[in-house]
Amino acid sequence: MDVASPFYTFDQLLDFPVLTPPARLAVIGDPISHSKSPQMHNPALMDRGIDAQYVRVQVPVGSVAEAFRRFREAGFLGINVTIPHKFEALEAVDELDPLAERLGAVNTVAIRDGRLFGYNTDGPGFLRSLKEAFQVEVKDLRVLILGAGGGAGKAVLQQSAMAGCRHLTLVNRSSEKLQSLAADLRPLYPDLELTLLMGEDWKDSTIRTALMETDLLINATSLGMKETDAPALPEGAILSRHLIYDMVYRAGGETPLIRQAREAGARCTDGMSLLLHQGAVSFEHWFNRPAPLEVMRAGLQAAV
Ligand SMILES: NC(=O)c1ccc[n+]([C@@H]2O[C@H](COP(=O)([O-])OP(=O)(O)OC[C@H]3O[C@@H](n4cnc5c(N)ncnc54)[C@H](OP(=O)(O)O)[C@@H]3O)[C@@H](O)[C@H]2O)c1
Repeated sequence: MDVASPFYTFDQLLDFPVLTPPARLAVIGDPISHSKSPQMHNPALMDRGIDAQYVRVQVPVGSVAEAFRRFREAGFLGINVTIPHKFEALEAVDELDPLAERLGAVNTVAIRDGRLFGYNTDGPGFLRSLKEAFQVEVKDLRVLILGAGGGAGKAVLQQSAMAGCRHLTLVNRSSEKLQSLAADLRPLYPDLELTLLMGEDWKDSTIRTALMETDLLINATSLGMKETDAPALPEGAILSRHLIYDMVYRAGGETPLIRQAREAGARCTDGMSLLLHQGAVSFEHWFNRPAPLEVMRAGLQAAV
């Protein structure tokens, strides 16, 4: 088996090719060809002696519920969901895990007895990877999230608040998403010190000031995915005492934020660690047993 596997189309779900081992798990997104999840999950399946293969399937926006129906009929056991389908997936499952409901997105589906169970593993994966990278707990940190209004940002901010974080600064380019997030958060966490920086606030001087009161900076925007992306932070804004967590990763290179962090002497980690740990939590939902983390890590490292 090629652990990377080619990618398949939505139409192919109607009559899925017979593979060896059989395709039983998939990641859906649009685009999807860049996904490194097969290189992480296929070695894990082999290591655990599970007769199943993990594949990538490109699914267009608006077709997630239909794709889930086709996966169920094709005998799949589980699905990972990536950009831009995590909100659509929330509406398309039969049973929603309470954490996924709170985090507002589904990135993992388990199919059991013909029913679709929706989970979010980005939040728990974030906590595990934070601990592994920095040996810290989010409850002890003042946290600033860039891109707090996106799917990943929302999951991380809700998970941080649930885990006891008391100081959150949320930054987003567009303002309306942050206003409604704040309205949701305030009654749930009355002791949370919440600062919102929106739209015009996202300028160098404001960000520099906010970083003076920050321990952990998380980039949950998509900035850094493309070579041509503007930097998420002004040059020189990172201090050596900061912990920098970039949810973005780049195969074969570092993101601009990780470069800035390294130059400032700050400790940092990129989105590979989140990819690994959220994948391990997905594996646990599908197979109800611990994931072979080091096998998955080696698979990812080989892929990049
Ligand atoms: N490593 C992992 O396992 C993992 C897991 C989840 C996500 N991620 C990464 O996290 C990133 C965000 O994913 P997502 O699912 O949250 O996407 P999303 O829902 O589309 O949200 C994108 C976020 O980025 C912001 N943004 C986009 N372009 C921007 C720009 N030019 N300037 C400022 N802000 C900008 C958006 O702001 P507006 O609200 O103003 O549009 C929004 O807050 C992606 O790069 C994804 O690959 C990684």
